[in-house]
Amino acid sequence: MSPETDRPPSWQVCLACANELTERDPRSRCPTCGGLLEVTHRDPELTGDALLLRFTERRGAGPGATTSGVWRFREIVLPSAEEVVSHPEGNTPLLHREALEEWTGIGGILLKHEGHNPTGSFKDRGMTVGVTQAKRIGARAVACASTGNTSASLAAYAAQAGMPALVLVPAGNVASGKLAQSLAYGARTLLVRGGFDDCLRLVQEASERLGVYLLNSINPFRIEGQKTIVLELLQQLAWDPPDWIVLPAGNLGNTAAFGKALREARAWGLISRVPRIAAVQAAGAAPFARSFEEGFARRHRVDPDTVATAIRIGDPASHDRAVRTIRETDGVVLSVTDAQILEAKAAVDGCGVGCEPASAASVAGARELARRGTISRGARVVAVLTGHVLKDPGMLLDYHVDREPPPPGANRPVEIEADLRAVEQVLEGAKGRSPDGVNGER
Ligand code: F0G
Repeated sequence: MSPETDRPPSWQVCLACANELTERDPRSRCPTCGGLLEVTHRDPELTGDALLLRFTERRGAGPGATTSGVWRFREIVLPSAEEVVSHPEGNTPLLHREALEEWTGIGGILLKHEGHNPTGSFKDRGMTVGVTQAKRIGARAVACASTGNTSASLAAYAAQAGMPALVLVPAGNVASGKLAQSLAYGARTLLVRGGFDDCLRLVQEASERLGVYLLNSINPFRIEGQKTIVLELLQQLAWDPPDWIVLPAGNLGNTAAFGKALREARAWGLISRVPRIAAVQAAGAAPFARSFEEGFARRHRVDPDTVATAIRIGDPASHDRAVRTIRETDGVVLSVTDAQILEAKAAVDGCGVGCEPASAASVAGARELARRGTISRGARVVAVLTGHVLKDPGMLLDYHVDREPPPPGANRPVEIEADLRAVEQVLEGAKGRSPDGVNGER
């Protein structure tokens, strides 16, 4: 390879055939073999403590993009970007709740709540970089397929950049909060009669035919932004890595991003030890977990079905790069049932944190791994909550208001006449009940 300094700051490499493309090449896959692309950066001028110091100085300082939880790490995200499309995003909290320590059986569990991003999911971290790149290369429009969060995020960032956005989502299988966002931010929204995998195939064909820039997570610039979930949580832990990072897994872009973040953080002296990654799928949409059980000997495709619509995906696009993450981090992949996901969601919601169903898969998975003894009671674990509780109000209302018989955690509202006596009657009634009964009563 030529000396590092002869290189531009970043370029793209095909993960399958090592073909190289320039940073500004707009194609979504390798033109030679169709493989997935990855952004590669020249070693930053600063590494180790000097780079950490720069990240620390930027944290919380000044207005605009520098304080963004993505662009704070620009040297290892997209060093050559000058003007960026930033909300700003990131700077999400790392939460501690005793109730969840008890519930999971893990003494040191923390929650990285990505639902605190501007459109309510981690997708904003990838989208600020993706839409910035779309603008730099002069794209005339942007597009994605989505189970709802990517489309909400793309719609918002495209609106900010003044660019038309096209989104394809599975008809009848998108949570109402997400669909509403995409409409509100003005994206052209197509409800496709099919699943996410059909939407992704279609949008890839359409983007090639129409010359529209594709912003699904197969786009390597999205991955660069999503790496900052890991960088930011490491910074919040003073660069002392946890033992485990647990995340929900669908199309596997995030699993790929986490592996790349850790690989680079170690190479550039930000950390000296790599946490293990646990990727958690819904049992009805678990091709990656199945593949893991077979030592990744084969790739699987399934007909997906789960209440966690965000991860209702049968043929994950980033399979290969996610395999690398699991191998490099001595990671694990597991699946949890819809019942486990809903129970975990009730536990997360019930302690005042709240998250969308797919996000709860990480907490359900952490508990399951503790039960199996894979994660020890005293381990330091970060579970990533990927989306906000209000993303899926339909599911919440069904659970708490409509479902018969009421599920154990249902918190039925009580309709009353507008007088004080009625309020008193309800409170009196609640007093006599056991704490468990209060919420379950009608
Ligand atoms: N959690 C949430 C809330 C998601 O929206 C997604 C993916 C995931 C987890 C899984 O992440 O795909 O990188 O493995 N949502 C995509 C979308 C598919 O279109 O919004 P992944």
